[in-house]
Amino acid sequence: MLDPPVRELLRHTRGLVLWLTGAGISAESGIPTFRGKEGYWRVGSQNYQPEEMATMRAFREMPDEIWAWYLYRRSVCRSAQPNAAHRALARAEQRAGDDFLLVTQNVDGLHVRAGNTLDRTYQIHGNIDFMRCSRECLEAPVSVPDAIDVRWEKGRPLGERERELLRCPSCGAAGRPHVLWFDESYDEPNFRFQSSIEAARLASLVIVVGTTGGTSLPMHIGTIAAQRGVPMLVVNPEPNPFSELVRRTGKGAFLPGTAGELVPLLVNALLSGEG
Ligand code: APR
Repeated sequence: MLDPPVRELLRHTRGLVLWLTGAGISAESGIPTFRGKEGYWRVGSQNYQPEEMATMRAFREMPDEIWAWYLYRRSVCRSAQPNAAHRALARAEQRAGDDFLLVTQNVDGLHVRAGNTLDRTYQIHGNIDFMRCSRECLEAPVSVPDAIDVRWEKGRPLGERERELLRCPSCGAAGRPHVLWFDESYDEPNFRFQSSIEAARLASLVIVVGTTGGTSLPMHIGTIAAQRGVPMLVVNPEPNPFSELVRRTGKGAFLPGTAGELVPLLVNALLSGEG
């Protein structure tokens, strides 16, 4: 049940609602969160943390192992299904049209699989089902080839066949996962950086779901909203830097709880104010 002031806020919101999601929204689909218990990854005799694996540096040093890690994670994402929170956001877009925008840090593709459109879904950290040229010769990412097994067990090594399949289809250089790595920067063509900032400057309400706020663009969006005095609703089982912003500005609310439980309620309350 939502508190009456939150319901009122949602019912009276007009204009753009910016939803910002992180790994927590997919937790109830069975995809481990980043800073949760996913744990290390073993390459040979060495253990690596996700923050070390998700770098261009690691890809340069051990491309096959990094690809194998992504193919395993792709396999986890492919076998997961969108949950009640994803489905509610698809419904929200269908009803709100251009007054809806979704900025997601998730590479799992579940928002799009639930029905959100790519025009209104900015995948600011990429999508694990896609790859691009490591020399950046392609204008847009391409799908990881269908011939690559979608079931990829943890620890399965990359073979010669996959190495060939994962080449850039245009120039033949190595392909790379279409994700943003820790030692890389956001940009517009791949990650909708400027468009996300622009949306934060226009939004009437920002709703943040399931993120620790550990990356820069999401925090930038939260800070812009706070500076503009725009209300922010924060859905998370635990407080985070976004709930701290809400506490400081007094605009919006921190809603402790899970995405699957709260996002459908928020969407229902928003849609009840339509027209
Ligand atoms: N509903 C809502 N939130 C949840 C749920 C749930 N069922 N379960 C967990 N959470 C919250 C956690 O409390 C935590 O705040 O989701 C958040 C997940 O945080 P992270 O694992 O840090 O994921 P995220 O914030 O999306 O990470 C951001 O960092 O590692 C990089 O690029 C990677 O996109 C990722 C980015």
